[in-house]
Amino acid sequence: MAGPLPLGDPAPTDGHLPVDLPIDTSVPFSAYLHIPFCTVRCGYCDFNTYTSTELRGAKQEDYASTLIAEIALARRVLSDAGALRPLDTVFFGGGTPTLLPAGDLARMLEAATGAFGLVEGAEVTVEANPDTVTPAVARTLAEAGVTRMSVGMQSAVPHVLAALDRTHRPENVRTAVAAAKDAGLAVSVDLIYGAPGESLADWEASLDAALELESDHISAYALIIEDGTKLARQIRRGEVTTPDDDLQADMYELADARLAAGGFDWYEVSNWARSSAGAGSGDNRSRHNLAYWRGNDWWGFGPGAHSHMAGLRWWNVKHPAAYAQRLAASESPAAGTERPDDESRTLERILLLSRIREGIAVEDVPAGNRSRVAGLMADGLIDPVAALQGRIRLTLRGRLLADAVVRELTD
Ligand SMILES: C[S@@+](CC[C@H](N)C(=O)[O-])C[C@H]1O[C@@H](n2cnc3c(N)ncnc32)[C@H](O)[C@@H]1O
Ligand code: SF4
Repeated sequence: MAGPLPLGDPAPTDGHLPVDLPIDTSVPFSAYLHIPFCTVRCGYCDFNTYTSTELRGAKQEDYASTLIAEIALARRVLSDAGALRPLDTVFFGGGTPTLLPAGDLARMLEAATGAFGLVEGAEVTVEANPDTVTPAVARTLAEAGVTRMSVGMQSAVPHVLAALDRTHRPENVRTAVAAAKDAGLAVSVDLIYGAPGESLADWEASLDAALELESDHISAYALIIEDGTKLARQIRRGEVTTPDDDLQADMYELADARLAAGGFDWYEVSNWARSSAGAGSGDNRSRHNLAYWRGNDWWGFGPGAHSHMAGLRWWNVKHPAAYAQRLAASESPAAGTERPDDESRTLERILLLSRIREGIAVEDVPAGNRSRVAGLMADGLIDPVAALQGRIRLTLRGRLLADAVVRELTD
């Protein structure tokens, strides 16, 4: 069940923020609402999510009311700190948000809107497992103010879905996407590449199937083998093998070429949005994820959720039962907090911003490392035109070696 939480300092039981926090209410504010329930756990996944047998008395049917109690606490805390402002984005993630009745999601959204307000044109996303989206669910969500649905497609190829332990039927992706579109929602699909036994041709078939859905946004993640998962154990025992680094790199290059030819622009190493140059389309990038990468302020609601405000970070207790107990006792569910120093914050900024297309200003790189920019350019890792204009933007080769670029800029 997801790795351990960071250590950090103890969090105050009433959740109050430090009085000297340099809050800037012109920074956009987001809410992440974590829904920690899944029917079964996929073999590769270590998200903080629980099947019915793991809930230790926490009840799915009480969850919306519990989370709404945290919304009330957040409103008090932010109001006391002079940090209240309307939400720019809201994201229901999981777990599987659509395992809860759509009415519960609507109630939580209504509570968040009532507590903070929403900016005009706010982005409100719900993550969904393809098996749990019906036309009625999509309509209820749209009527409640949801604007976008992110569907966990992962692959279109049955043996790859089986290797990932996915239980959804591939054809349900098409019906889920159609239901979301009919309800007027923007649609994103998630893909994973590099599953055991997946060939380049399998990956090509999944990319083609994703493009046929005519979504607004596609995320393509390299499979991460997380410690403690069933997949990690299968690999350790030698029961399955994953594609080697060269094949993974070929898969990334194929994704970028196919998605670009299909009218999608990359805007983060693993994310592509339908080109805004296309007829009738606006900005299809995920504003919520951009808020994380840009280091904006957000409150993460729910067990294990992380929050960030003006450089302060805190995170909630992990288990839904512990989370419910805290809120029932009118206490903050925060388990720990930390305030990274300026140096750590600079490193984190580079790590996040260098992965997005808008990139990072050369002047934001520590002075001692700026001389390395020429070397990155010579190695074809960053775009020379952007670099001459003072910005660091990864090339395709740079995206493949993004971690090495970050090391070069921060070590
Ligand atoms: C919380 S899940 C999405 C919603 C829903 N639970 C589902 O799986 O359909 C978020 C996304 O993270 C990605 N993901 C989860 N574990 C991963 C891993 N080990 N490696 C790469 N991507 C992963 C998947 O693409 C998944 O769709
Ligand atoms: S359905 Fe999504 S959150 Fe749940 S176990 Fe699978 S990948 Fe993880």
